[in-house]
Amino acid sequence: MKLKIAIQKSGRLNEDSVKLLKECGIDFSNSLNKLKTDVTNFPLEILFLRDDDIPQYVADKVADIGIVGENVVAEKQKEVKTLEHLGFGKCRLSIAIPKDKRYGGLKSLNGTRIATSYTNILAAFLKRNKIKAEIHEISGSVEIAPGIGLAEAICDLVSSGSTLFTNGLKEAETIMKSEAVLIANPKLNKQELAIVNKLIFRIQAARKAKKNKYILLNAPNKNLDKIISLIPGMKSPTILPLADKGWSSIHSVVLEDEFWEVIEKLKAYGAQGILVIPIEKMVI
Ligand code: PRP
Ligand code: ZN
Repeated sequence: MKLKIAIQKSGRLNEDSVKLLKECGIDFSNSLNKLKTDVTNFPLEILFLRDDDIPQYVADKVADIGIVGENVVAEKQKEVKTLEHLGFGKCRLSIAIPKDKRYGGLKSLNGTRIATSYTNILAAFLKRNKIKAEIHEISGSVEIAPGIGLAEAICDLVSSGSTLFTNGLKEAETIMKSEAVLIANPKLNKQELAIVNKLIFRIQAARKAKKNKYILLNAPNKNLDKIISLIPGMKSPTILPLADKGWSSIHSVVLEDEFWEVIEKLKAYGAQGILVIPIEKMVI
């Protein structure tokens, strides 16, 4: 038996979704005009769909699981379960106005027309903040609405901000933050869940590996304890004596984020010959 996973056919999340699956050791060819493709080394079939349709397909069990932005999950309000945050496709859903207009706070949105394809999220946001504005639903190119006199503001996804910039708009309010997530049909059976868990296990190993680096260095024995406390590693670091008396070689892992700070301190304790190597997979 095989599980079906839906990923975005083209757009912001496509490339990173494909990359994540490949990092999980899943082999497939992704030619652009294919609707689905089979995996030979994992019980999976991949469906390439429009991201906006993925929650519906997963809710209907046309696909068992899917990779999609939290923004789409929140907007579509389908019966799906979010299983895992995936750390890519980070963006925010924001209200934007023409950049030459002064933004007078939330209240100034009263009585305006706001163009969006995120009508559910926007309606909930306006209601929560007791703002009475008119929502204009547009399915694409929302950013041109103010320029053609269709609306005073828009509510759309912002990632790099370049779409807003090139259309003479500026961000006024952030409504929600979003990133890619793994979603699933809530009624998967035992067998299906076993495959999902296997996939999640691989996703976590691939993501952890990316956050960590393998580090090797030579350390003077007199500072060994201090150095070990700086790079405790997964359980504890490996220490091997060097031929040169009074010195040891230490092998450990270090978090990418803490890397530069740790290196500085290691050097201060006399560490030499520091090598830092990427890790491909990491299972704790
Ligand atoms: C979003 C949004 C903007 C763009 C913003 O589209 O509609 O067009 O990304 O990105 P930027 O701030 O980096 O310019 P998305 O990729 O979600 O495509 P879709 O709405 O067609 O699904
Ligand atoms: Zn979309």
